[in-house]
Amino acid sequence: ALISMRQMLDHAAEHGYGVPAFNVNNLEQMRAIMEAADETDSPVIVQASAGARKYAGAPFLRHLILAAVEEFPHIPVVMHQDHGTSPAVCQRSIQLGFSSVMMDGSLGEDGKTPTSYDYNVDVTRRTVEMAHACGVSVEGELGCLGSLETGMAGEEDGVGAEGKLDMEQLLTDPEEAADFVKATGVDALAIAIGTSHGAYKFTRPPTGDTLSIQRIKEIHARIPETHLVMHGSSSVPQEWLAVINEFGGAIPETYGVPVEEIVEGIRHGVRKVNIDTDLRLASTGAVRRFMAENPAEFDPRKFLKASTAAMKEVCKARYEAFGTAGNA
Ligand code: G3H
Ligand code: 13P
Ligand code: NA
Ligand code: ZN
Repeated sequence: ALISMRQMLDHAAEHGYGVPAFNVNNLEQMRAIMEAADETDSPVIVQASAGARKYAGAPFLRHLILAAVEEFPHIPVVMHQDHGTSPAVCQRSIQLGFSSVMMDGSLGEDGKTPTSYDYNVDVTRRTVEMAHACGVSVEGELGCLGSLETGMAGEEDGVGAEGKLDMEQLLTDPEEAADFVKATGVDALAIAIGTSHGAYKFTRPPTGDTLSIQRIKEIHARIPETHLVMHGSSSVPQEWLAVINEFGGAIPETYGVPVEEIVEGIRHGVRKVNIDTDLRLASTGAVRRFMAENPAEFDPRKFLKASTAAMKEVCKARYEAFGTAGNA
């Protein structure tokens, strides 16, 4: 059944687990997420980005998610709009039937320019008023995703700040977070702790200097009732990088957010963990390998089946590690 994010994250907080929020663009991702959830008895958050709407078209995405709810009626599903750039964007998603929206007022309507605190409060508060009137949950964001080493958001073609960010933007301030949640009434708060979107988060395995789990603890201590959200939380599995590069790919050395660091975050108030890149890497690795090993095959269902299976394994591993399993 389709439920609101508030309902799901309240349950997660009560029982001390986190929920991976997987981005969805196509049938194979949707099947991978749902089959993994079914096999591990996990509740599901699927999220659609602006890029996904552009790729698949809003009606196809919507019906893909509704089809998942129909095929797996026993699994609670949150249909979430990722990184809305304005209250109007969020309003359109609410009209389409999304049960949760993100109003990312940390960046302007171009999705690139960091905004003022007052602007962020204004657009987020307006979105909350509109969404709550419809029983829809709202995620806000305070702080900008980006590397603590370089100050760069590091996402070539997607969501992310343009130009160099400073320390105050890269690490969400606990006091400001408390004020923001009070002023806006958001159901969940995305925070900046040194992660960024995409595969190129860290040039070496992160340490406390480049990934601040400490900052999560400080924010959670200040606002223990608020559900925290980690963006840019792909782990960038080294195994999948190796498969991609073994079968013709060329991805340079790079590191993501270790699963055990996310689990530590979950112990301190993180309830929603955004993951897109890991499914992309697994899919690409599986397809490259399948193509190389089966040069005479030309039925796309064959290589897409390999893609689905690889993504499903990643989903299952996250459901199990985050304690989501067993909570559907
Ligand atoms: O927020 C970032 C997600 O990875 C979505 O990426 O805009 O390429 O769909 P996308
Ligand atoms: P990754 O690029 O680390 O998968 O992050 C996805 C995300 O935060 C979507 O909002
Ligand atoms: Na989101
Ligand atoms: Zn994000």
